[in-house]
Amino acid sequence: MTNATIESLKKRRTQYALGRTSSLSADQIEALVKEAIRLAPSSFNSQSSRAVILFGAASDQFWALTTEALRAVVPAENFAPTEAKLKSFAAGLGTVLFYEDQSVVADLQAKFALYADNFPVWSEQSAGMAQLAVWTALADAGLGASLQHYNPLADAAAAKAFGVPESWKLRAQMPFGSNEAPFGDKAFMDDAARFKTFHAATA
Ligand SMILES: Cc1cc2nc3c(=O)[nH]c(=O)nc-3n(C[C@H](O)[C@H](O)[C@H](O)COP(=O)(O)O)c2cc1C
Repeated sequence: MTNATIESLKKRRTQYALGRTSSLSADQIEALVKEAIRLAPSSFNSQSSRAVILFGAASDQFWALTTEALRAVVPAENFAPTEAKLKSFAAGLGTVLFYEDQSVVADLQAKFALYADNFPVWSEQSAGMAQLAVWTALADAGLGASLQHYNPLADAAAAKAFGVPESWKLRAQMPFGSNEAPFGDKAFMDDAARFKTFHAATA
């Protein structure tokens, strides 16, 4: 049985070799990212996910700011591989910065005290759903991407550069672009160790 969703999920892989060739316009990519995040579920339909979508020079700027933030903490003798990695993220068409709005979390905690401890967790889970939705939509459109976590190191500089509200907490960065190399091999663990299925009630 072929299933369109499964086929899309199969296309989503981590791609570090990014380039800038695409038949899609920036407007089309922006629309894809927004729609994927809009359609992703969130606890209580709280829609806590936020995104800053960076193209071209703005994406370069984000990775340059991150490079400088890292330079301050990584020993100089180890910095070359770090810098090369960050350059590869900037080599793509753009970067999506994924945020979770903490004011939404705090409002829910105040409104539904019984679940107060859960809302920060559910916000993180909602973030993951939004990230998968965007990553898969980009893959379906023929674009490669990876998922990075330079937060909290990059937060302050990015907030200043892109006018990010104080309540938005940076959770992940997704550099994207054309696929410039084949995907690496990926092994899957045994289904038997992973899944249990039941049809009848257990004794
Ligand atoms: C929650 C989460 C965090 C991840 N963090 C990083 C990361 O910080 N840097 C990175 O290069 N890849 C990161 N990845 C990508 C995984 O390493 C990758 O998805 C996994 O190895 C499977 O490969 P695939 O994406 O090609 O299917 C992350 C993935 C997930 C789901």
